[in-house]
Amino acid sequence: MAYADIYAGWKSDPEGFWMEAAKGIDWVTPPTSALNASKAPLYEWFTGTQVNTCWNAVDRHVKAGRGDQTAIIYDSPVTHTKRTLSFAELQTRVASLAGALRAKGVEKGDRVLIYMPMVPEALEAMLAVSRLGAIHSVVFGGFAANELAVRIDDCNPKAIIAASCGIEPSRVIHYKPLLDGAIAQAAHKPDFCVIFQREQEPAGLTPGLDVDWNAFQVGTTPADCVPVAGSDPAYILYTSGTTGAPKGVVRPSAGHLVALNWTMRAIYNVGAGDVFWAASDVGWVVGHSYICYGPLIAGCATVVFEGKPVGTPDAGTFWRVIAEHKVKSFFTAPTALRAIKRDDPKAQLMADYDLSQLQAIFLAGERADPDTIHWAQNALNIPVIDHWWQTETGWAIAANPLGIEALPVKIGSPTVPMPGYDVQVLDEAGHPVAAGSLGAIAVKLPLPPGTLPTLWNAEDRFRKSYLTTFPGYYETGDAGYVDEDGYLYIMARTDDVINVAGHRLSTGAMEEVLAGHPDVAECAVIGVADALKGQSPLGFLCLNKGSDRPEADVIKECVALMRDKIGPVADFKRACVVDRLPKTRSGKILRATMVKIADSEPFKAPATIDDPAVLDEIRTALQGLGLAKG
Ligand code: COA
Ligand code: AMP
Repeated sequence: MAYADIYAGWKSDPEGFWMEAAKGIDWVTPPTSALNASKAPLYEWFTGTQVNTCWNAVDRHVKAGRGDQTAIIYDSPVTHTKRTLSFAELQTRVASLAGALRAKGVEKGDRVLIYMPMVPEALEAMLAVSRLGAIHSVVFGGFAANELAVRIDDCNPKAIIAASCGIEPSRVIHYKPLLDGAIAQAAHKPDFCVIFQREQEPAGLTPGLDVDWNAFQVGTTPADCVPVAGSDPAYILYTSGTTGAPKGVVRPSAGHLVALNWTMRAIYNVGAGDVFWAASDVGWVVGHSYICYGPLIAGCATVVFEGKPVGTPDAGTFWRVIAEHKVKSFFTAPTALRAIKRDDPKAQLMADYDLSQLQAIFLAGERADPDTIHWAQNALNIPVIDHWWQTETGWAIAANPLGIEALPVKIGSPTVPMPGYDVQVLDEAGHPVAAGSLGAIAVKLPLPPGTLPTLWNAEDRFRKSYLTTFPGYYETGDAGYVDEDGYLYIMARTDDVINVAGHRLSTGAMEEVLAGHPDVAECAVIGVADALKGQSPLGFLCLNKGSDRPEADVIKECVALMRDKIGPVADFKRACVVDRLPKTRSGKILRATMVKIADSEPFKAPATIDDPAVLDEIRTALQGLGLAKG
């Protein structure tokens, strides 16, 4: 069937569509209906079901006789390690870890925070938690102790599972001191921490709190899968919003299973026995959906890659991994391809590898710029598919569904809405705009299965952030347009979220950090265009009247403060001191205008600007940083 027919079929009978998709999942209590709208505009899918996520990702494949097939391929150029785990081995390891967690008191509904690098044990930890019907919250390794503490206090984990260290090409990341610092800072204290000791840097364990990953499993009874209600959360994943407090996106168990399973065939065109690789990190939504759960639910082998697109050891690493492990569908961020293209513009390193089994590359996380797509398409001669989604949705809102029909690619567009998403482009008053006109992108409620039903312990914030601006719709926070063929174009965020190397960051959170510096009276952070990373954060600092501190010292301290409070992932390296910030007469900082000046784009000062002369001062400061050339 063609995409248009499938989309129309979903639209005419959404519940029927998802009931059919639900057949791909093993249920303890199967669904008798799909959508529960009794609390609209809050919706629930598959009410009344009982299911276990780990069973569907692991055990059912063993039961089906595929226990010997590869589940995880670990490829770590930073530690020179390669190893594989079969579904049967994964089942044994996950059941054992889950049993040990249970012996220490972890039960259905408890939260377990996971702070781990890209090692198979990270997936094992996620799966062991879901085996118990508990709820994990994975935190990306590039976040500092403070961010970890904020998450500990929001989800109150009973246990934390961490590795002793992570390995970046330039240095070892000492996880244990970061973890200890976070626990000391947090008001909530976990009952215990499980530390996975890596040989590159084992950590000293804190008596009475820490247990060793291997030792604590000895003598415990492996755990079976615990059924949970379909609406129970599988996990909480924090993401950036407008303010410093991250949003705890809740992922409902049943919808997550049904939707991810559907996407593996329909979008990525893979199934049991195929090798799927998402070159992301378990700390991000891509890592949750497409390193861990999606491929395993579908019975694919998933690649856990611990390295970078360049420098580990070179820009041919991705092609080596694809060739060596026979990857069929590959998912990465445009920024990774830009890094490869920068180091190997003629794609000469690709020629060393047999990539004949690779059917397509999928890109997401940020806007895929046409240059990068052209480069990859010319070099690989396969479809390079941009698709658009968010932590909140957990799977693609718009994509080119390769497993249904490879639609013509329009470069610059993530193609068309997936079944489940009625995407509309709205004007400020909430009215749909004409094809080709820019507006806020919203999705008509209900959102499909697997998307967030709420924010963890923050239903009001959920309603305010997503459901209030356009009643009856989910506000995506992205702006763009739909063309006359129904192709979507995602152009910008409508809020203060920026995207740095495919990582979603909040300028509001960064401003809160800068405002904490004793010499900073006022500040603003914007995202300026960056050829490699898409955007790069830049701070403007107004110092306290009478401050006689050298500006360079304050800037240096602010850069260090950001690393300390948010973490290296913020990638905050540039700031400048200015006397004033450009504002409207009502005091709103004109960040969008500052971005335009920095990026040397034409702009018109808003009529409401308080003092247009400030813009010249901003331009001069930016020129001092090599920006605002136009
Ligand atoms: N743990 C600890 N620190 C981390 C980290 C982790 N898991 N990941 C990144 N960092 C640190 C880096 O070491 C770096 O620190 P530095 O400032 O001391 O150099 C900083 O965070 C920024 O890292 P990164 O964004 O990786 O930038 P880079 O300049 O080192 O590398 C790229 C540039 C393009 C190669 C890299 O950004 C990349 O691989 N991007 C793709 C990311 C991706 O797949 N995102 C998709 C998410 S869906
Ligand atoms: P995250 O929640 O970290 O996945 O970030 C989601 C945001 O990244 C989206 O709201 C977009 O702003 C941006 N984004 C993700 N994928 C794309 C894409 N294919 N094209 C344009 N922007 C994207």
